[in-house]
Amino acid sequence: MHWLDLFYHPVWVLSTAVLALVVRMQRRGSWDPQSCSVRLKGKTAIVTGANTGIGKFIALDFARRGARVILACRSQARGSAALQEIREKSGNSDVHLRLVDVSSLDSVREFAEGILKEEEALHILVNNAAVSGLPRQITKDGFDASFATNHLGPFLLTNLLLDLMKRSAPARIVTVASVNHKKGEVDFSHFHGENLNYFMDNVYNHTKLHNIICTNQLAHRLQGTGVTANSVHPGIVMTEVLRHYPWSLRFIFNLIGFFFFKTPEEGAVSSIFCALAEEMEGITGKYCDSDCQLVLPAPLARDTALAVKDFEICERLTSKL
Ligand SMILES: NC(=O)c1ccc[n+]([C@@H]2O[C@H](COP(=O)([O-])OP(=O)(O)OC[C@H]3O[C@@H](n4cnc5c(N)ncnc54)[C@H](OP(=O)(O)O)[C@@H]3O)[C@@H](O)[C@H]2O)c1
Repeated sequence: MHWLDLFYHPVWVLSTAVLALVVRMQRRGSWDPQSCSVRLKGKTAIVTGANTGIGKFIALDFARRGARVILACRSQARGSAALQEIREKSGNSDVHLRLVDVSSLDSVREFAEGILKEEEALHILVNNAAVSGLPRQITKDGFDASFATNHLGPFLLTNLLLDLMKRSAPARIVTVASVNHKKGEVDFSHFHGENLNYFMDNVYNHTKLHNIICTNQLAHRLQGTGVTANSVHPGIVMTEVLRHYPWSLRFIFNLIGFFFFKTPEEGAVSSIFCALAEEMEGITGKYCDSDCQLVLPAPLARDTALAVKDFEICERLTSKL
């Protein structure tokens, strides 16, 4: 017998199949949105970056629960396709597309102005839109494009919508961050594209750390208002998140991902959990992992003095001069 014959043995084939099945099932978290009976009739939700990936499935879940859902997307074509798909799949026609480029402060202001004019209430805001692996680009506001997209734009958007959310309380803000924040560092010159290393996901990791720091500080500021703010890690999810990386890396990611990584639908679960689960009622300033467990973020994300400073700097950077 040749040693390679071992791999054709039925026991080998069977145990490989069982292992693959176990690994695949492990991807499912402990909380199942389908067994959650919360309805969102009469509630309004905004999901940024809702035309693809995790954001699309978050929006679809809200639509299925009867919410008025606003898809905040930057592309008319991609947004319209998602709008049609979500309306069809959910049977909910109260789903709408509003355009916003979260990397531009002017665009965020214009979007928020429209929302404040058109909407009577806002109960859920999911800051989901983000980019990873962008090469160095400076926006017209003078910020590194990844920082503008992932942190400063969403920071401004949240602040502009806060009063509406307070009037609509109870309301929840969910920031889709990442476990990668643990590799991030805080250096305020990064905001302007200085002292950054653009290799792989370096810049992305910093932005995700700022997401959690500022969400925690926001939660602190919102105490007693009925508006909560939490951040989540969605898991490693097979989406278009690697679109700015080399094709070889995307190929390996998708190959391994088939067994080990989450689908976009599975990746949406921790955000949905924070946005509507009864278990999260009144809970604020927390970081939720991809299994919907509240866990401690990195020490830098728990440094209160740093959070106060970070929040104040972001307020100054995003304020109109
Ligand atoms: N996938 C993962 O493994 C993973 C892991 C940890 C955390 N996350 C986080 O999960 C969230 C969703 O990511 P994803 O994996 O679903 O990525 P994705 O498939 O690339 O989707 C990103 C979404 O953000 C939108 N977007 C990007 N830049 C924007 C801008 N300037 N203005 C408005 N919208 C913009 C994109 O719109 P276009 O389609 O028009 O570009 C798209 O709808 C992100 O916050 C990401 O950091 C993902």
